[in-house]
Amino acid sequence: MKFQGVKLSGTGAYAPEKVVTNDDLAKIVDTSDEWIQTRTGIRERHIAAEGENTSDLAVEAAREALEDANIAAQDLELIIVATLTPDKPFANTGSLVQAKLDNTKAMAFSVEAGCTGFVYIYEIAAGMIASGLYKNALIVGAEKLSSVANWEDRTTCVLFGDGAGAAVLTATAGEENGYLGSNMGSDGNYSDILHIPGGGTSLPITVENYHEGHQFLQMKGQEVFKLAVNAMANSAKSVLEEAGLTVDDIDIVIPHQANVRIINAVGKKIGVPEDKVYINVDRYGNTSAATIPIALRELVEAGRVQKGTKILMVAFGGGLTWGASLIEC
Ligand code: COA
Repeated sequence: MKFQGVKLSGTGAYAPEKVVTNDDLAKIVDTSDEWIQTRTGIRERHIAAEGENTSDLAVEAAREALEDANIAAQDLELIIVATLTPDKPFANTGSLVQAKLDNTKAMAFSVEAGCTGFVYIYEIAAGMIASGLYKNALIVGAEKLSSVANWEDRTTCVLFGDGAGAAVLTATAGEENGYLGSNMGSDGNYSDILHIPGGGTSLPITVENYHEGHQFLQMKGQEVFKLAVNAMANSAKSVLEEAGLTVDDIDIVIPHQANVRIINAVGKKIGVPEDKVYINVDRYGNTSAATIPIALRELVEAGRVQKGTKILMVAFGGGLTWGASLIEC
């Protein structure tokens, strides 16, 4: 094994065709466009069609990323999908994506780290490439959160959306390295403030408890809000400090897109000017592991990502999990 550099070679994103506005939601739960926009910044979200699964969203994003990277699916040696909404509890969504891409040689698996999923799998793939074990990796954050949202609970269902974003990471030939540093963390003591309590071994869904709704995503909104702001800000500050950089050295910050108030509070705490902070939660809602790679793709398409552009990605999610990473494109 020989240590090698890592670079971001391609990006892709996909959102299902159907768009659901806040006014549409106001027809099914007691809410309003005004409440949702003021408290969250969300205007609309994409919702997958029936039969359109997480792996289908992932594959659309993956194909775009592979084309962007000019790499054939067959050449991938590593495929990692981050999701909290797998097609099925088992087999893993990474392998399902691999099959749909007609790849027959990659190691493939999925990671459950909630909304931090994409920065976690970026770290995993970058580390596996840097170690010299792999050269071409596909990482995908993909979610069909509409399948775990309780559409009778206005406190959660208005927040989420479906979508996928992907990136291709490759080994660099020389000394060049685009992975500048990271700061990852987790605290399982807070697992019950943002989770899906039922459907696993601790609380199987039965005929008797089905109507209690344990199969849906549940959240203590205000606690999550405070923890998210602190964890994201601390993680971002730490990664900058460890890399010997300041926010002035960073071109773009991509925060996890859960709520525009969380994003603004994090931006303020780390002292980054608003125009460097990318926001698209208004158009997608919270797509969990997919928010950061969708944003990354939009930035590439807008021409804002050039050779040398430094990006700080920072996320927070159920688990609890959090993480920040710094890349140079
Ligand atoms: N429409 C209208 N009213 C709503 C509502 C909705 N969709 N959801 C909640 N409310 C009501 C509540 O019932 C409450 O009413 P009450 O005062 O009569 O009891 C009122 O609005 C205020 O609720 P509260 O929970 O205090 O609002 P908030 O300002 O904390 O905002 C969240 C709620 C969920 C938007 C906010 O806490 C949040 O964003 N938390 C983080 C969530 C998140 O991002 N999770 C994922 C992280 S990865």
